[in-house]
Amino acid sequence: MLSPAIGTGQLTGLHAVTLNRPKALNALSTPLITELNQALLEVNSSDRVSVILLTGSQKAFAAGADIKEMAPLTFSKAYTQSFIESWSQLTTQVKKPIIAAVSGHALGGGCELAMMADILYCTESANFGQPEIKLGTIPGAGGSQRLTRAIGKSRAMELILTGKSFTGAEAAQWGLAAKAFPSYEALMEGAMKTAETIASYSKVAIIGAKEVVNKSQDLPLRDGVEYERRVFHGIFGSQDQKIGMKAFAEKQKPEWTHE
Ligand code: CAA
Repeated sequence: MLSPAIGTGQLTGLHAVTLNRPKALNALSTPLITELNQALLEVNSSDRVSVILLTGSQKAFAAGADIKEMAPLTFSKAYTQSFIESWSQLTTQVKKPIIAAVSGHALGGGCELAMMADILYCTESANFGQPEIKLGTIPGAGGSQRLTRAIGKSRAMELILTGKSFTGAEAAQWGLAAKAFPSYEALMEGAMKTAETIASYSKVAIIGAKEVVNKSQDLPLRDGVEYERRVFHGIFGSQDQKIGMKAFAEKQKPEWTHE
């Protein structure tokens, strides 16, 4: 059973997972991450869901890892228990696209969680940042790697070394976010619209597209292009490729089987 710290809701083809720990501005404690992982794995295996919307509240997407939980942690505990490693499940085990809709604070681990999503949308006034340096530490859930790949070394270095926040408008301008919306309502509407558009396509193609785009982050260009071609070839084995191309030729709307 999902605990009240995570809210979930399902529409046709898309599923919303909402971080809901308002008293701590959705600080990402270990129990919250465990619930999030469970919720995402359940949604990932549901035949009825094609795309996942990950949100927080208007005030906070997430204000980071739980500082009060982390404060007494020792090196040996963190190291031997692989503290924070489970956060990566979202990127390694969820095949369906995740849209992060970010409003308010997305700091530290909150910024890192948003960057793990496949599409990042935010409000123009969203408050992003990697402020770990102010706590005497550094980003631990991929912030130094994903932020640097997204916005370049010099800018990422400046933000991580100063701990300064940046706005959603800047995130979009720098290419970290796909889009910044003028209000929370517009953000949620825009994210739902994109989710619905994606969910209207064949699941086989959706999952294939996510897989190959994400490979571009890990592979050299030549290997990435070859990897894409292999997946592209594989999709000729799906029913939906036949359905999609036949429908185009016959000027019909395709009726996907998701097979
Ligand atoms: N962990 C634990 N509790 C947190 C928290 C966090 N990351 N962020 C906020 N809270 C708690 C506060 O302690 C406070 O609780 P109490 O009411 O019990 O005192 C409650 O949430 C509300 O917070 P504030 O009163 O501070 O709210 P504010 O509006 O004045 O400020 C804020 C908002 C600027 C986000 C401020 O809360 C803040 O700076 N939070 C910490 C942000 C941060 O440093 N994040 C990085 C964490 S380290 C990390 O994430 C490591 C990593 O890479 C994985």
